[in-house]
Amino acid sequence: MSEISKPSEQNLFVYFIASIAALAGLLFGYDTGVISGAILFIKSEFQLSSMMQEIVVGSVLLGAIIGAAVSGGVSDKFGRRQTIIATAILFAVGALGSAFAQNVIWLISCRVIIGIAIGVASFAAPLYISEVAPTEVRGALVSLNQLMITCGIVLSYIADYAFSASKNWRWMFAFGAIPAMILLIGMLFLPESPRWLLSQSLVRKARAILERIRNRKNVNKEFDIINKTLKQKTGGWRELLEPYIRPALIIGIGLAFVQQATGINTVIYYAPTIFQFAGFESARVSILATAGVGIVNVFMTIVAIWLLDKIGRRPLLFTGLIGMILSLGVLGLAFRMPNLSGALKWITVASLACYIASFAISLGPIFWLIIAEIYPLKIRGRAMSIATVANWTFNMIVALTFLTIAEKLGRSSAFWLYGLVAIAGFIFCYLFVPETKGRTLEEIEVTLRSGKCFKKS
Ligand code: BGC
Repeated sequence: MSEISKPSEQNLFVYFIASIAALAGLLFGYDTGVISGAILFIKSEFQLSSMMQEIVVGSVLLGAIIGAAVSGGVSDKFGRRQTIIATAILFAVGALGSAFAQNVIWLISCRVIIGIAIGVASFAAPLYISEVAPTEVRGALVSLNQLMITCGIVLSYIADYAFSASKNWRWMFAFGAIPAMILLIGMLFLPESPRWLLSQSLVRKARAILERIRNRKNVNKEFDIINKTLKQKTGGWRELLEPYIRPALIIGIGLAFVQQATGINTVIYYAPTIFQFAGFESARVSILATAGVGIVNVFMTIVAIWLLDKIGRRPLLFTGLIGMILSLGVLGLAFRMPNLSGALKWITVASLACYIASFAISLGPIFWLIIAEIYPLKIRGRAMSIATVANWTFNMIVALTFLTIAEKLGRSSAFWLYGLVAIAGFIFCYLFVPETKGRTLEEIEVTLRSGKCFKKS
């Protein structure tokens, strides 16, 4: 066998590295999810209109767009480790700052800071993990990041529930400083990515770290592969305009649109509000019902990780999208029938759970996975950052418009609108999204360069 050893022979240190860095995913989930419960109390304390509520919820997303846009450059210049350390500081400062907010502008500014941290983290943490991970477990780690996001969301719901009795939204935010501090302290003990060190010509240091994380002296083969890859000329932004890249760019941006415009984050950020629409009067019960929805999200993400390499991306995408279309249809219908009253509550809970389960086995992990797979190595970083920025931009547009659409068009029309996008998304995925299961990244790249139909070949 080659020098690259089996995971069981690997130094446990690499798993420790991945778990610490994945705390950034947990913070991504926590800090995006926490607003769902907190907003119920913030709106009464600061007397917020629907528009102001949307701005408070959306501010984190504005920050995330900025963060995702700069993360590629920052992590290339300062290194992955330093970038994540800076991110952890921003997470902690933003969490404590929001907790002490005396007015809504203060709160919005701190949420923008947290957003920048989230945008950077959504790119830098998986990058760092993939660069230190042994080849054999790298694929699983991409989806592990999504799992950590969903765990962070559940944690935020639990915190929201715990502090809802005292209506203490400040503690909901402050709690996020704990994983941020653990991430900060943990990262101080972790090494820089050997790949980045090599790109800075710090050869000796890179080698010493690679030996340490692989737990053996002979790392020549891996070292040579990294060196060879680094010798490939990195494509500039111009290369993104090459006609052969176009289908892959369309797939990345299109999937980002479908992932966000089918309304996932109206559920993640506004689930308690939706439950209140549906007749759950107490904020606490609404938040509790939301925690149930979050647990379904985690559980079904685990199912997805298990199935992705067995049955493939496309069957999961189709199954998930059909589930989303049906549950959005039922949700819209439920809000059309006010007479259902008592039953309406439970139909809402069941259809939201079904909706999130369908998302979690499909668009949730598959968007992040596909954008890590379909771009040519030379321009992977830049192309991924375009898809990531697109994802956060669509996310913000949906969050900023949900309450207004629900007010102007009616709640049921809002859900049906997302259902229509899901139908269009199904057609888009059917026509364009390739099956990447069992294909090496090089094979995918060859197909892309050949200009053949991306899906069929
Ligand atoms: C999406 C997030 C969403 C999360 C929910 C992620 O894949 O990008 O916008 O909040 O899934 O689990």
